[in-house]
Amino acid sequence: MPNIGNITLGEFPLLLAPMEDVSDPPFRAVCKDNGADLMYTEFISSEGLIRDAAKSVKKLDIFEYERPIGIQLFGSDIETMASCAEIAAAAGPDLIDINYGCPVKNVACRGAGAALLQDIPKMVKMTEAVVKSTGLPVTVKTRLGWDHETINILEVAERLQDIGIQALTVHGRTRVQMYKGDADWTMIGKIKDNQRIRIPIFGNGDIDSPEKALEYRERYGVDGIMIGRASIGNPWIFNQIKHFFKTGAHLPAPGILERVAACRKHLDFSVRWKGDTLGLLEMRRHYTNYFKGLDNFKPFRMRLVESLVYRDIEAMLDEIVHYYQESENFAAI
Ligand SMILES: Cc1cc2nc3c(=O)[nH]c(=O)nc-3n(C[C@H](O)[C@H](O)[C@H](O)COP(=O)(O)O)c2cc1C
Repeated sequence: MPNIGNITLGEFPLLLAPMEDVSDPPFRAVCKDNGADLMYTEFISSEGLIRDAAKSVKKLDIFEYERPIGIQLFGSDIETMASCAEIAAAAGPDLIDINYGCPVKNVACRGAGAALLQDIPKMVKMTEAVVKSTGLPVTVKTRLGWDHETINILEVAERLQDIGIQALTVHGRTRVQMYKGDADWTMIGKIKDNQRIRIPIFGNGDIDSPEKALEYRERYGVDGIMIGRASIGNPWIFNQIKHFFKTGAHLPAPGILERVAACRKHLDFSVRWKGDTLGLLEMRRHYTNYFKGLDNFKPFRMRLVESLVYRDIEAMLDEIVHYYQESENFAAI
């Protein structure tokens, strides 16, 4: 059973991936309801946090029911990262995670995120400084390497374990791949084959069904799986996978009541946490996801994304329940 420090995670934990502009508290609440075992904040810029930037500070908001939860930090300056680990720890998470995987130019071309895969001595120093600055367990999330020619995850895993990280999540792509091609978990399996590795190794990349989760669990021997994109609009995936592991059968697909309930919870929390206008604006991108695959949904979607009146949207959600419960369209779910 994989533990991170004294955090117990169950036999085979399913992790919600940190996702900028997605894995905020409203989204996390819905994933927690549906079986996510360990969750992370969106990544937080250490440069922003040290300057007390509102956007970074807001991302430190975590809630008791979310435990265990990790705060994820990224940055290029070792001292700033260490100071930010202390600031983040004061917000009361269960662990601090360091992002060495972000491939986007704004991050990786400024010496942060996946850029550290090109400078292992600096990555080791930064990690050591963060480990020393906090009593909380420190974990790392990274990729296979910078590019196909420089895959160095086996060395990274050993060296980071040796300086005290307590779990490692690996996304089976290089920085250069960004999100293209298929994630390759072969090297993740090789980390698990290394007798020296004692810390939990979590696999990440392209898991989008219970079958694939089972196949990759068995083939690569990982200690848990992290799920990102497949949870967007489908927070049920965590319990679906758990049920499949336990019984070999599928849970019934979520019906219209479950879909609306999840969407409503997400909406209510967004409005409470972000305020009416921002909460409603940021919900717009989620409606299509919650109602994916429903026949005749387009007119509802158009109305949902046009309104900035909370009560009208609530009424539309009621209408959606009625429409799909009454109509034949329900059968299409
Ligand atoms: C919209 C979006 C935002 C992301 N933001 C972060 C982030 O803040 N920190 C991080 O470590 N990874 C981030 N990622 C990468 C995911 O955590 C994950 O590694 C990647 O999506 C692959 O997993 P998946 O195939 O299950 O989605 C992000 C991915 C997406 C799609």
